[in-house]
Amino acid sequence: MSLRVRFSSRGLTPPDVAGSVVFVVDILRATTTMCAALHHGAKAIIPVDSAEEAMRLAQTIGRDDMVLAGERNCLRIEGFTLGNSPREMTPEMVQGRTVVLTTTNGTRALLATQAADEVFVAAASNITAIGGRAHAALEAGRPILILCAGREDEFALDDAYCAGRIATLALGGRDVADVEHDDATIAALDLVARYRQRWDKPLRASTAGRNLVRLGMGDDVADAARTDAYPVLAHFHERRVLAVRPAA
Ligand code: MLT
Repeated sequence: MSLRVRFSSRGLTPPDVAGSVVFVVDILRATTTMCAALHHGAKAIIPVDSAEEAMRLAQTIGRDDMVLAGERNCLRIEGFTLGNSPREMTPEMVQGRTVVLTTTNGTRALLATQAADEVFVAAASNITAIGGRAHAALEAGRPILILCAGREDEFALDDAYCAGRIATLALGGRDVADVEHDDATIAALDLVARYRQRWDKPLRASTAGRNLVRLGMGDDVADAARTDAYPVLAHFHERRVLAVRPAA
């Protein structure tokens, strides 16, 4: 049994993820936004690296069937219909449509996992579904990697706390010492001991959270802190994120 955490995707290579079940976290806000879109009926999310790639893809899919979404410096990209706010992913905007999404850190981390055995998109908004899947994977002896998008290749408190919550659920009461783990796993679990069940505390204390509040997007931080608000099991496969089944 193996449970590892990475605090950013910096330097991540295909061998780092090969054979693992990977849970990608960018709780503020990309992975929360993906869960919101899928929960509200988006057909799929296609994460891409750049605005240019998103525009090119939009032309091949056709305007009526897709919606362009994304941010740079937390603000909607010029010419895009939506930014990267989970609250923008309403049924009116996304139902039955493919969301092409590009964000600063979150979509980049997701795209770095393509050599993994399986990849899921994780946030507070789908934590029960994710925790169940992580626990099942660990018990089945499949190596687990919880990959935080982080912030500009560095540690981000909001993602690290979410990683700790996923690790806690994966362990399901087992002592971490009973499974193969790394130092980052211990640190993430320590954040759960510090903040307990309070998603709002690390999210508000984090640099990303404080930045969003400063930009007038404090409601997004509150939204991202809602447990199981968008309870989809979001699965990344062949460059698309799909809801594989609703959470129980
Ligand atoms: C990212 O991918 O860097 C974030 O989701 C940024 C944001 O909050 O828009």
